[in-house]
Amino acid sequence: METVERLNYENKIILAPMVRIGTLPMRLLALEYGADIVYTEELIDWKLIRSVRRENDVLGTVDFIDKTDGTVVFRTSRREKKHVVLQIGTCDVSRALKVGQMVENDIAGIDVNMGCPKRFSILGGMGAALLEKPDKAKEILETLVNGLKIPVTCKIRVLSSLEKTLELCDILASTGISAITVHGRTRDERPQHPNRNDILKKIAQHLSIPVIANGGSREIEKRSDIFKFKQETGCSSVMIARAAEWNCSIFRKDGLLPMDEIITTYLKLAVDYDNAPTNTKYCIQNILRDLQESPLGKKFLDTQTLEQICEVWNMDDYCRQKSKEYREKGLMGRFQVVPESFAMETINANGSCKRKFDDDVTLMQCAFIRNNYTNDVDLPKTKLLKWVKENRKKMPIYDTQHADKLFRSIVSVDGRKYGSSFWEKNKKFAEQGAALVCISSLGLVDLETLTKNGNILA
Ligand SMILES: Cc1cc2nc3c(=O)[nH]c(=O)nc-3n(C[C@H](O)[C@H](O)[C@H](O)COP(=O)(O)O)c2cc1C
Repeated sequence: METVERLNYENKIILAPMVRIGTLPMRLLALEYGADIVYTEELIDWKLIRSVRRENDVLGTVDFIDKTDGTVVFRTSRREKKHVVLQIGTCDVSRALKVGQMVENDIAGIDVNMGCPKRFSILGGMGAALLEKPDKAKEILETLVNGLKIPVTCKIRVLSSLEKTLELCDILASTGISAITVHGRTRDERPQHPNRNDILKKIAQHLSIPVIANGGSREIEKRSDIFKFKQETGCSSVMIARAAEWNCSIFRKDGLLPMDEIITTYLKLAVDYDNAPTNTKYCIQNILRDLQESPLGKKFLDTQTLEQICEVWNMDDYCRQKSKEYREKGLMGRFQVVPESFAMETINANGSCKRKFDDDVTLMQCAFIRNNYTNDVDLPKTKLLKWVKENRKKMPIYDTQHADKLFRSIVSVDGRKYGSSFWEKNKKFAEQGAALVCISSLGLVDLETLTKNGNILA
C-alpha cells in the first residue's frame, strides 16, 4: 500500500487559488519553478459532484468530466499529487463532504474558499459570505476534517477589526484544520488597498496552527520580496497570486526568467496536457498584459486553436506532433458523454450510440466546437442554409432528441438524413453537429479539417 506523506504547511511558498489561471499547466509550471504547494482554481461543489472520474491513460492524468457536456472540470496528474490542494466553493456541509470523498485519493489537500467577494459567491452563501456565518463555516470544516484522510484548510479575508478577525480565526482553528490562509484585505477592499500585514502578524502570533500570509503581490517583484513579506507578517508560509499570474518564475531560486521563455515552457505543458485553447489563451494574456498591444501580442490575440497559439512562439511543429501522437493513442478532443437512461442499452464499443437512430441516417460521431468559429457565416447551419438556397432545395428540417439534459439531432436535406451521434449540452449545438455531418457529406468541409479541429471523435 502506498504510504502518503501528509502535506505540511510550514515554510512553504504557495501558488494561490486563481479562477481560470490555476489549471494544470500553470500549477505544473509553478512547481517546476520552485513553488512548494499549488492550489487549484476555486471549483464549485455541485460542478464537481455532477462530474465523473476518469483515468486518462493517454495524458497520464486523472480527469473529472462534467457529465452534462463532456468538458474537463478538474484535471490533475501524478506529478502534482503530493503538492496540489483543491479549493472548493461551497455553502453546504454534505456537498462539501461528497466532493472531498470524490477527490481525496487524487490530491494532497482540500481548501474551502471563505474570501471570495464576487456576487455569484456571496448570493450562493459561499466565499466571503461564510465570514459572516461562522457556525456554518465551522460545521463545513469540522465535517471535512472528520470525514477525510487529507488535510483541510480554509482561506479567509480579515474582518473590520482585529478582535473580530481573531475571534473568527479561533472558531475556524478549533475545527482541526491544518492551516489557515489570510488575505490581509477586507471583503470590500480591492487590490489597490494596502494589505494589512500588521493584522496578519497578530493572527500568526495568536494561533497555534500555521498561518499562510496572502495579499502581498503589490510588493513582490522578485523572490527575495516573498521572504520580506513572510518576515513582515510573521506567518509560517506565503501564498502568492497576482505576482505568479504575471510572472510564474517568481518562484525560481535562480531568478526571474524572460517572458518568452516562461510562455514557451507554459505552452509546452498546455500541449502536453491538452489544455483547452481558451484557457491557455487567457493565461498567456495575463502574462503578456500590456504587451498584447505589441505586434506579437496582436498576432496572438487573433489565435483560436492551440496550434495557432503555438505558432506565435514557433512551437506549432511540437503541437502538431503531440496532437498526432495523442490522436493515434485515441485521445478524444472532448469526452463522449451519454445520457444515463441510454447508457446500458445503446453504447457501442467506441462510445457511439447508434441504435436509437434509423438505419437511413448518415451518421458520424462529430462534436460541435463553438470556439472553432469566430464568424457566424462559417457556422455549419449557416453554411448548409446557403447551400440549400444556392441549389434551390427545400429548407433543412432538424429533429432533435433530448435525454437527461443532453441533445443530438438529425437534419433532413434533399431527401436524406444526417446526424451526429455525439450528445451535446444544448439543442443549438446538437443542430450544428448534425449540420456539420451534412456539410461534410456534401463535400463543403473535408474530413481532414474536422479531424484537425477535434470535431471527429471516432
Ligand atoms: C485572477 C484571479 C483569480 C482569483 N481566484 C481566486 C479563487 O479562485 N479563490 C480564491 O480564494 N481567491 C482567488 N483570488 C484571490 C487570490 O487568491 C489572492 O487572495 C489575492 O489576489 C491576493 O493575493 P496577491 O496579492 O498575491 O494577488 C483570485 C485572484 C486573481 C487575481
